[in-house]
Parts: sequence; structure tokens; C-alpha cells
Amino acid sequence: MKRPKLQRRPDAPPGQAIRQRYQAQGVERFYAQEGAHYRNPHEAIVARAIQDAVIRWSLPHAHVLDLACGSGEATLALWAIAPQSQILGVDPYTSQAYRARTGQDALPYTFQQVAQGALADQRFDLIVCSFALHLADVSWLPSLCLGLAQLAPHLLVITPHKRPLLRESWGWALLDEHITERVRARAYRATLS
Ligand SMILES: C[S@@+](CC[C@H](N)C(=O)[O-])C[C@H]1O[C@@H](n2cnc3c(N)ncnc32)[C@H](O)[C@@H]1O
Repeated sequence: MKRPKLQRRPDAPPGQAIRQRYQAQGVERFYAQEGAHYRNPHEAIVARAIQDAVIRWSLPHAHVLDLACGSGEATLALWAIAPQSQILGVDPYTSQAYRARTGQDALPYTFQQVAQGALADQRFDLIVCSFALHLADVSWLPSLCLGLAQLAPHLLVITPHKRPLLRESWGWALLDEHITERVRARAYRATLS
């Protein structure tokens, strides 16, 4: 089937074209249909933002959760600077794409399942969520964040948006933000540990 052409002006903010597809199809339907072939068109910026953040804020990265891992954009960016990192990818729609690029299987959990404790027996140094946390339903976001704060002391959110802004009552305190080519990297520290 022919895919609709993406309408992205050269000066449009990162993520604008994909937003048009979300509006037309709905987020979950879009990824259920396209997830196997997903690639982030802004991968180079994502990689720079993640690598810069890990170095700038000295984020530990021996054992990492790549939440909503897509085709491994964050995983590959981390491996480029830390090949020994153990990284667990989680994504309900992109397991084929993640395996093709990383050689690893991703666990197929949704944000809702993670919020309900699907990873409760795991512990990480760092959680990275790139270009995805704004997709979590707002009704699940507080419990998702509280659940994540039990899993790791550090959270790195990479986003082309201002939202979501996490609240301290959700278990995370914002340490710092840095913007690379209109992509925001936000480092959070768990307030529970
Ligand atoms: C824009 S992509 C980002 C992927 C990758 N992290 C990156 O930086 O390119 C958003 C990701 O969120 C995932 N996703 C969509 N809805 C989700 C949900 N309800 N729960 C968990 N992940 C979801 C999609 O499968 C997709 O891989």
C-alpha cells in the first residue's frame, strides 16, 4: 500500500510531519501499522542530544531502559559512546525494527503496562525516553512516572516538545535542560531513592 506523503517544510520543527500522521490515523494505529519500519527522521539530532546529555550531566549508563525504543535510536546512540552498556528496549509496536537494528529483542509493553508494574522486577541506572513520553496518555502519566521512579535513579527525556513537564509529586525532580537544534534533553533525578 502506498504511504501518504509526509508534509514537512524544511524549517518545520522536528516531529511536525509525524504529528500530521498521528492526527490522521491516531497514534496507536499509526505505530501498529508502521512500527515494523519505523525510523526517526531526526535520529542524528537525537543521538547528539543523548550523547551530549550523558556526558554533560555524567549520567550513569551501565544498565539502561530504553522506553518506547522505536528502532533503537537511543540504544544505538548510547552504544556509540558506551559499547558495554546493557540496554533493555521496551516498545509494543517496533520489535521487528528494534531487532533488525540492534540484534536484541524489545519487550512489548505499553506505557500503561509499565505503569501497572510490568517492569517492577527490573532495576536500571538510567531510563531514556526519546520522542515518546508526550504520547503517554495524560491519565496514565503520573502513575507511569511514579512506576519509573522505582526502577532507576535517573531519567533522560528527549523531546521536540515542551510537554510533558513532570511534577515532583510524580517522583522526578528536573535537574537541568539543554536544547540541541530545537530538541530538548531533560535530566531528572528520582525523588524516591
Ligand atoms: C516517535 S517514536 C520514538 C521512538 C524512538 N525512541 C526514537 O527516539 O525515535 C514513538 C515510539 O513510541 C511508541 N509508542 C506509541 N504508543 C505507545 C504506548 N502506548 N506505549 C508505549 N510505547 C508507545 C511507538 O511504538 C514508537 O516507537
